[in-house]
Amino acid sequence: MTAAILTTPLQTRIHEAIVQAGGWLGFDSFMSMALYTPGLGYYANDLRKFGLMPGGLTHTGSDAGSDFVTAPEMSSRFGLALARQIVEAFQATDTHEVWEFGAGSGALAEQVLQALPQITRYTIVDVSGSLRLRQQQRLASFGAKVYWANALPEKIRGVMLGNEVLDAMPVKLLARVNGVWHERGVTLHEGAFAYADQPTDLRPPFEVLGMHDYTTEIHSQAEGFIRTLADKLQAGAIFMIDYGFPGHEYYHPQRSMGTVVCHRAHQVDADALADVGYKDITAHVNFTGIALAGQEAGLQVLGYTGQGRFLLNCGVLQGMEDATLADRAMVQKLINEHEMGELFKVMAFGAKNTAAWQPMGFAAGDRIHTL
Ligand SMILES: C[S@@+](CC[C@H](N)C(=O)[O-])C[C@H]1O[C@@H](n2cnc3c(N)ncnc32)[C@H](O)[C@@H]1O
Repeated sequence: MTAAILTTPLQTRIHEAIVQAGGWLGFDSFMSMALYTPGLGYYANDLRKFGLMPGGLTHTGSDAGSDFVTAPEMSSRFGLALARQIVEAFQATDTHEVWEFGAGSGALAEQVLQALPQITRYTIVDVSGSLRLRQQQRLASFGAKVYWANALPEKIRGVMLGNEVLDAMPVKLLARVNGVWHERGVTLHEGAFAYADQPTDLRPPFEVLGMHDYTTEIHSQAEGFIRTLADKLQAGAIFMIDYGFPGHEYYHPQRSMGTVVCHRAHQVDADALADVGYKDITAHVNFTGIALAGQEAGLQVLGYTGQGRFLLNCGVLQGMEDATLADRAMVQKLINEHEMGELFKVMAFGAKNTAAWQPMGFAAGDRIHTL
């Protein structure tokens, strides 16, 4: 599969990187450049990303023209429910601060800060400079309690959050072709990007039964990210929310096309090499890999369940009698199993060498045993 002839500055940069690398760039490096090249990558440019509609107005009246919608953009009740969980985590771990990774438009931060005036410090870590500016404008009214960190301190005490951040981390592509495993990367063909495979010793973490052709991903960056958090977290908890599956479902023999997809104007496509910088590229999360990475780095897995179950356990329906019809519809989307309630999962970790506790979000329907 090839993309259009290379013309934009970002395409030129990636072209140069491919040439410098000897004609072939791993898909993880390509995805990293496509999403995060300063000023040009999808998450680093000024184009609007988050919203309810591809055109027209959102229900809040702000401009749309967006590519996809995330839970905190849909209803502030998502942040309110999470805020209840954060309060419990503060009490259980004697912490008072929040660290949010990949804060997007700042919607979740706004919801949590509004719900919890007792938070002493809310620190955001985001690799995107343009989103950081947007977050700073949106959260200005909370003053000096909101910080943006460029690097993590030696030790952190607090509750860490990440909504749809793991899926935005670059993945390596593996392709079994005629029974032989290859790493799939990107090369240049007649002036356009094209996939090219090289034999590799890399393997998926689960054996993929059968000999049929099979494409999948491995998530070294997301797992490395969790190990880094484990290393830094002295006291507190981590809550990661994202779409994904346990490993045995992720590497199911029938999932033979992998999970990498692009999002643009609320449409999904599979051509990550086209329109680079103008669309999001994501992969689902292998939650077994995330759990193991955390555990091996000393974290305790405190819970794992579907987003719907988690939000219900955190009281997302409280006060719904006052909700508008539009808000009711959004909360339904967040919790219904055929919408976001089941595909999205929540995983919580506790800091190493601290007492285990059960967060309220997993009080009913915890599924750690499925990992
Ligand atoms: C899909 S968006 C989700 C944004 C927001 N959490 C939401 O739910 O609307 C992914 C976010 O993760 C950020 N991101 C990606 N990799 C990151 C990393 N290693 N550390 C911090 N932020 C990261 C991106 O810049 C972007 O803000």
